[in-house]
Amino acid sequence: MTRMKGWSVTSLGEPEQVLELRDLVVPEPGPRQVLVRVRASAANFPDVLMCRGLYQIKPELPFTPGAELCGDVEAVGSEVTRHTVGDRVLGLCSLPHGGFAEFALMDEHTTYAAPASLDDAQSAALFIGYQTGWFGLHRRARIQPGETLLVHAAAGGVGSAAVQLGKAAGARVIGVVGGEAKARYARELGADVVVDRHTEDFVDVVKRETGGRGADVVYDPVGGEVYDRSTKCIAFEGRIVVVGFAGGTMQQAALNHALVKNYSILGLHWGLYNVKDLPAAAACQAELTRLADSGLIAPFVSERFPLDDTASALQRLADGRTVGRVVLDVRS
Ligand SMILES: NC(=O)c1ccc[n+]([C@@H]2O[C@H](COP(=O)([O-])OP(=O)(O)OC[C@H]3O[C@@H](n4cnc5c(N)ncnc54)[C@H](OP(=O)(O)O)[C@@H]3O)[C@@H](O)[C@H]2O)c1
Repeated sequence: MTRMKGWSVTSLGEPEQVLELRDLVVPEPGPRQVLVRVRASAANFPDVLMCRGLYQIKPELPFTPGAELCGDVEAVGSEVTRHTVGDRVLGLCSLPHGGFAEFALMDEHTTYAAPASLDDAQSAALFIGYQTGWFGLHRRARIQPGETLLVHAAAGGVGSAAVQLGKAAGARVIGVVGGEAKARYARELGADVVVDRHTEDFVDVVKRETGGRGADVVYDPVGGEVYDRSTKCIAFEGRIVVVGFAGGTMQQAALNHALVKNYSILGLHWGLYNVKDLPAAAACQAELTRLADSGLIAPFVSERFPLDDTASALQRLADGRTVGRVVLDVRS
């Protein structure tokens, strides 16, 4: 039995309190799974929600979190046809054997070749946030060149991807962030206009920047009041993509308001595309690889942390204190 170092969630609560670094057994891949040696694992807000027991997926305790990674295929299950030992891959981890460990399991159908143009930490972050952004902007909102896109939490995981994908789609992007460091980062990502929500009202800025018309597409991973305020600056026939509720309060739609202003509210559960429309998910990843290879998108990794620092890095993400993508880089 081969052993490895890996993090276990042993009870539910804040990441720093419930994560334990343990000596674990390296898992065996199932028939349609691959075992990977982790190179890098990107941290995402759902990792935090899973530690708290507040995510829609609730693995049995104890489990190793870490939803997406880049790694080398170490072993393949008996029915795997698309990957072979030694491939450098990225994609979704198969819980309870997530990416915050030396080895992880992945399902074959959510595992893709990692682009040669990106390093390991960038490749680890090219899956959830970018697929979510791509399906949200293109499949759900059908964004058009020249439209105005408003992205909330623009310096965050899914938000930063939406900024880059919006620019790549030819949209004018207004990013909302909390604080100057995040504002600098959102500008580096390519946002045309950046709003610091601590000092400015995004509704005023959107109206000013669009000559009173409003944003054509709103990408909302925050919810609560941010959603309510977004309906005050949505354009005629605008589309609000409901992505998440990192602010802690779910969006509550006033449908009479949507009727009166002719806007659409679009739910987005990216993971479902990997269940109900796998060809679309594969086409999306091929497009993301093309955009990365052409230099149009690249995850902006602001921090690479070693395996031993996983709990504190996840806690900073939980507290909204991270700027850009924070990634476990096994070699750092
Ligand atoms: N729909 C889908 O398929 C899908 C896929 C992936 C993720 N998600 C969801 O998207 C959301 C964002 O995930 P992420 O990993 O990209 O996280 P993140 O953006 O890296 O972190 C959340 C950000 O939200 C902002 N925020 C605003 N109010 C907040 C508050 N009261 N508490 C904490 N943060 C607050 C903060 O940015 P500022 O300070 O800059 O405002 C914070 O950095 C989560 O709810 C996640 O579950 C949905």
